[in-house]
Amino acid sequence: MLQKKNMIITVTLNPAMDKTLAIDNFTLGIVNRVSNLRYDIGGKGINVSKVLKNFNVNSTCTGFLGGILEKTFIEELNSRGIDTRFIHIKENSRTNTKIVDTTKKVYTDINEAGPEISENELKMFLDEFGNMCNKDDIVVLAGGVSPSVPKDIYAQLTKIAKEKGAFVILDADGELLKEGIKEKPDVIKPNNHELVRLLNLESDSEKELIKAAKLLQSKGIANILISLGEKGALFITGENIYHSKGVKVDVKSTVGAGDSMVAGLVYSKLNNYEPSEALKFAASCGTAAVTLEGTKACTLEQVQEMFRKIEVEIKEED
Ligand SMILES: Nc1ncnc2c1ncn2[C@@H]1O[C@H](COP(=O)(O)OP(=O)(O)OP(=O)(O)O)[C@@H](O)[C@H]1O
Ligand SMILES: [Mg+2]
Repeated sequence: MLQKKNMIITVTLNPAMDKTLAIDNFTLGIVNRVSNLRYDIGGKGINVSKVLKNFNVNSTCTGFLGGILEKTFIEELNSRGIDTRFIHIKENSRTNTKIVDTTKKVYTDINEAGPEISENELKMFLDEFGNMCNKDDIVVLAGGVSPSVPKDIYAQLTKIAKEKGAFVILDADGELLKEGIKEKPDVIKPNNHELVRLLNLESDSEKELIKAAKLLQSKGIANILISLGEKGALFITGENIYHSKGVKVDVKSTVGAGDSMVAGLVYSKLNNYEPSEALKFAASCGTAAVTLEGTKACTLEQVQEMFRKIEVEIKEED
């Protein structure tokens, strides 16, 4: 069989249908009328695949899907030209409800925990994932998991992928990140808050964050991309410490900024960008994303426009 070069695999273990309800003057305890309704398939890995598709890069989404939403997810992804290799599960994939109060401009999120994954389903996924990964593939492990999935799942997946010679990018929080780094993914992308939690830092000052990244490097994680929201990002690689300055933009929604940034990293890796260019490109993706409504995926043109505005400097080590 002909093996496609550089397959990109994005893992979404707890996909969610994002249901956004627009309600004028949302009020608790009464019947509220919905003035606008939209559904978007979501989950961090899936969002990364959507952005990559906009950059003309094909990827395969995997993870768990079940119940009435399963078909919708697969049809929607396939209609966008994104390949799918999800493990079918017995329980229902979740819906995350977002209530947008159009009058008060207040946003309320109601997120479900997600379906129970049986031991057998988990085993099937691990086998399938092992079969999917090949040398030089790029694997994106991103987002949370439902409570029944073990907290060391990203460590397990990183180990499997790296044994096959794939390149692993991990974007997770809490225990998932703490356990995941034990198998040394090639890149991690915590935001400042996630890194503070991971290493119990005293503050999220630039100095502390760089010190923390250096510590992680000494434990075998080669590249650490720390996103700082409106303050830009830090990229600590074997070569240097790079800083991309934040750009003032008209912010429409910060949802998905991190996922777009991860897609930017994948694109940079595919194009063999130097670290400073990779950071500039990834930060351009994140910044372009915040100028768009909801989880709308940024286009390459929007990213290129941002790319011209972002400055990257090299920081001297103390
Ligand atoms: N308000 C903003 N203004 C300008 N750029 C932004 C803003 N928010 C985010 N960005 C850009 O997007 C990148 C990623 O954003 P952020 O640090 O918020 O990621 P995150 O916290 O992982 O987001 P997510 O909620 O998607 O997981 C930043 O490094 C920055 O380049
Ligand atoms: Mg994030």
